[in-house]
Amino acid sequence: MTTQDQDPIYKTDALIAEDIDAYLETHQHKTMLRFITCGSVDDGKSTLIGRLLYDSKMIFEDQLATLEADSKKSGTQGEGIDFALLVDGLAAEREQGITIDVAYRFFTTEKRKFIVADTPGHEQYTRNMVTGASTADLAVILIDARKGVLTQTKRHSYLVHLLGIKNVVLAVNKMDLVDYSQEVFDQIVSDYRAFAASIGIEAFVPIPISGYMGDNITAPSDNTPWYDGVSLLPHLEEVDIESTKEPQAAPFRMPVQWVNRPNLDFRGFSGLIASGVIQPGDPVRVLPSGKTSKVARVVTYDGDRAMAVAGEAVTLTLEDEIDCSRGQVIVAAQSPLEVADQFESTLIWMDEQEMVPGRAYWLKIGTQTVSATVQHPKYEVNVNTQEHLASKTLDLNAIGVANITTDREIPFAPYGENHDLGGFILVDKFTNQTVAAGMINFALRRAQNIHWQATDIAREDHAAMKNQKPAVIWLTGLSGSGKSTIGNIVEKKLARMNRHTFLLDGDNVRHGLNKDLGFTEADRIENIRRVGEVAKLMTDAGLIVITAFISPFRSEREMVRAMMQPGEFVEVFVDTPLEVAEARDVKGLYAKARSGQLKNFTGIDSPYEAPDAPEIRVDTTEMTPEQAADAIIARLIP
Ligand code: ADX
Repeated sequence: MTTQDQDPIYKTDALIAEDIDAYLETHQHKTMLRFITCGSVDDGKSTLIGRLLYDSKMIFEDQLATLEADSKKSGTQGEGIDFALLVDGLAAEREQGITIDVAYRFFTTEKRKFIVADTPGHEQYTRNMVTGASTADLAVILIDARKGVLTQTKRHSYLVHLLGIKNVVLAVNKMDLVDYSQEVFDQIVSDYRAFAASIGIEAFVPIPISGYMGDNITAPSDNTPWYDGVSLLPHLEEVDIESTKEPQAAPFRMPVQWVNRPNLDFRGFSGLIASGVIQPGDPVRVLPSGKTSKVARVVTYDGDRAMAVAGEAVTLTLEDEIDCSRGQVIVAAQSPLEVADQFESTLIWMDEQEMVPGRAYWLKIGTQTVSATVQHPKYEVNVNTQEHLASKTLDLNAIGVANITTDREIPFAPYGENHDLGGFILVDKFTNQTVAAGMINFALRRAQNIHWQATDIAREDHAAMKNQKPAVIWLTGLSGSGKSTIGNIVEKKLARMNRHTFLLDGDNVRHGLNKDLGFTEADRIENIRRVGEVAKLMTDAGLIVITAFISPFRSEREMVRAMMQPGEFVEVFVDTPLEVAEARDVKGLYAKARSGQLKNFTGIDSPYEAPDAPEIRVDTTEMTPEQAADAIIARLIP
């Protein structure tokens, strides 16, 4: 029972060329099925996967010998082999009772190649399941026949449906332990059917199996004469995945991965075709710019082609020289994609640190990366009951629906239509961690009809009239560090130099524009966002803006920086140690905070993230406010 016996490439006698060709021929043309197995630790997942590997002859003689020996050691009865021992990565699971990561395994049969993502079943590992499921064509939902449909079965099914996996197998496992009872099987299937319909799963294939005994895995089992359906492995080999994707029937879409310009005579746009078909002569449109042209050539690794289809990597050259860069999407001219910068999306939060509404994250969609902010969740979904709950944020493994705003328009398709063009991830700008997986539900219409009004007096004109270069001098530091004092001196000095300035100060702005805001994390973020927008308008008007806000979070300071022209944002870290600021306690607030009368006070029970690389740092224990102001001005006006 070895792979060597089946595959010509393993023949020990002369490896003749035809054999290799024949081997490559069969294997190259095999389709690939990616699937996930969902179940809890005890549902028999490891055993089932071990069984599939074993039955598909992916085990070699030496492994088999070790396995038999190990199985004897572990005292396994039955067939004499403990298949779970095969799945080495899961050894830890059996020892500790938990599984900690997604394990991918590869196996192949005569008909197909398979990649199985084995995902843990515990609730805290929703994140892992999403990782495993995001590329899967099919999901095997395992049920222990003795236990029936459990909460976790519902959770797995909900996630599978949410991620758009169309092929679902309900594997009712451990049938040997319920005496292969048809009644038990039918009851489970009918329970599951009712639930599946309630969450929108239209079809699934129920199979009574025993991973341990091998019933209905590769062939119909004599133990279930009442079952005349398909066995698991043949189903996996034959299930039609192409038709559930229909990528070629959809209009042409290709996100541009890179612009291929080896020499001046050739300029091609390379990418993976997300959907549709393309031929030379086809009219295309580049989004979001909307420029149109026709395809001149379709080039692949093997040279020019008369046609290419979804799933293929190609380079397109166009008849006209139009602008097109990485992240843009080339689409069929007559059926363009939607373009928008505000969306409703479903988010699966995958980071230990909860979602921060209002904060800017990187959003990666297709081949494009943009900056995006997430609004407060409209609701969170209880994954076990699918109920909608009110929520202010999303914690690790939470699923919710929230609006997202991107800093520029992006071409997209709703996730339900196309996973590549509607699925995205959010990445923390500082830790570079993937914090969420998301799916675009639809674009919000509210921004659609607001266009930039072109004005005749441009920002350059405003600046020129004032004879200065606009700038934002952004003072950040603890309360009592001296920001307002220094900012005030800077403004006076600039005024004496005939500069047009404006000072925005935390305490003052909080009496007017931001009087609705307090000091929670979310309110501080909104405070800084508004101040950033105001500062931007003021620089458009040609002013030198000085701001004095604690602005405790790096993310929001960087967000404001990104809103300004390059070089315009000058971050000044007013560096005063907490002890010094607290000793000064000009407003008596530190004392209040220490005594518990004032909550969320920066430096006491709310964090301050010092800048890593400010343009200017002034140490107020070494300089007077006057000297600090001079240092700032020297830097600004050399
Ligand atoms: S920020 O964190 O949102 O940037 P901002 O600079 O606008 O804060 O306001 C800080 C000023 O508000 C402080 O100088 C202090 O006078 C006052 N204040 C009142 N409550 C707090 C608090 N909990 N934390 C910090 N400052 C507070």
